[in-house]
Amino acid sequence: MNIDKWIDLLPHSMKLKALNALDALGIVRSVRNPTVLLGMMPSMVRGMLFQPGRREEPTKVVSGHAAYFDFSYRSDFPEMRELYRRAKQQQWDAEEQLDWTTDVDPMNPEVPIIDPAFFDTDGLEERGIKLSVKERRAFTYSVVSWMLSQFLHGEQGALYAAAQVTESIQWIDGKLYGATQVMDEGRHVETFHRYLESKLNKLYVINDNLFVIIDGLISDPRWDMKFLGMQIMVEGLALGAFGTLYKLTSEPLLKDLLRLIIQDEARHVHYGVLALRDHICEHLSDRERREREDWAFEVALLMRNRFLMHEVYEEWFEGLMTRREWNELVGDTPGMREFRTVMFSRLVPNLRFIGLLPERMIPHYEKAGLMRYFDGADASQLSGEQYVASLDATSGVSPIEQLRQAVVA
Ligand SMILES: [Fe+2]
Ligand SMILES: [Fe+2]
Repeated sequence: MNIDKWIDLLPHSMKLKALNALDALGIVRSVRNPTVLLGMMPSMVRGMLFQPGRREEPTKVVSGHAAYFDFSYRSDFPEMRELYRRAKQQQWDAEEQLDWTTDVDPMNPEVPIIDPAFFDTDGLEERGIKLSVKERRAFTYSVVSWMLSQFLHGEQGALYAAAQVTESIQWIDGKLYGATQVMDEGRHVETFHRYLESKLNKLYVINDNLFVIIDGLISDPRWDMKFLGMQIMVEGLALGAFGTLYKLTSEPLLKDLLRLIIQDEARHVHYGVLALRDHICEHLSDRERREREDWAFEVALLMRNRFLMHEVYEEWFEGLMTRREWNELVGDTPGMREFRTVMFSRLVPNLRFIGLLPERMIPHYEKAGLMRYFDGADASQLSGEQYVASLDATSGVSPIEQLRQAVVA
């Protein structure tokens, strides 16, 4: 009997612990760089074994970062100052600008909350699981609620990371811009929470892998690691996820709120690349730069491989298939392929722009199939409005066709 079958025999709570330990072991095996792995360990132990994010009471994460004052008030970054000006002008109020009277019914096939092709249920049938039409709709409803719940939890992480970075960045232009981002992230938390609470009535706990990443960034005392992790990696991931959902939903309120949030997020990534390029290229030692190059690559792969909706699996298919089978199924589903394409097409050019993709890293990216994104537009070349327009440009094609094309690509 293989280990999956043994684990299946355990009581539910012990089974979850065993599966998480196996997951953590999977990360240990897949991260090839020992320094990166060592740095991740404390967050992995907290997130995957103790799982504080699943509890009701407030979760404490200790950070050792320093706060810097800039009493010179010297403005050295005109591009960042311009972003600050734009951010002030583009503030929006979810209360005023979104139509909360919209009737949202996630089970209504006339207005699908996400294209049913996002999750190809053929793979379920191949494993002997047949869902009725109604069950398929309910399952899709769970998938979207899970995604939006993770967006919400990620936004809470972004709120605190933005606040920390505002304190610890050393230039006044960065602090002023950071203040607008703190406000943006607060509005994103408000908006996603209101949508989940008042329209979907379904909220999932934070995914353990997402908790591990956020815990690692919030507790890291180095401002540039927080910045790299949050502004480039997590915001890049968020932009990919929001862009995918924006393209594949027909629900007008969700589409409108995603459009507003995407424009803010594109500006946040732009701020990140501006602040980091100078720092990475001019101020880090070779050893420090190499550490960040390795870290960014390993985290990119973890983000690609680890968001596998285990909470949806527990709700729907525990006992019907193993978690390993589920992982294979989800990883290969059309929506996840589309999500990876959108995410890496944004992330890889940004890593190149800030100087974290030198010659020595190219074979690794090549092997992971990521070099095809290398020459894409970085965040300084693509505004939020242009990004939304590029998503809209494919709206003439049916979403199912888009997914098929994504699978072929
Ligand atoms: Fe956000
Ligand atoms: Fe953001």
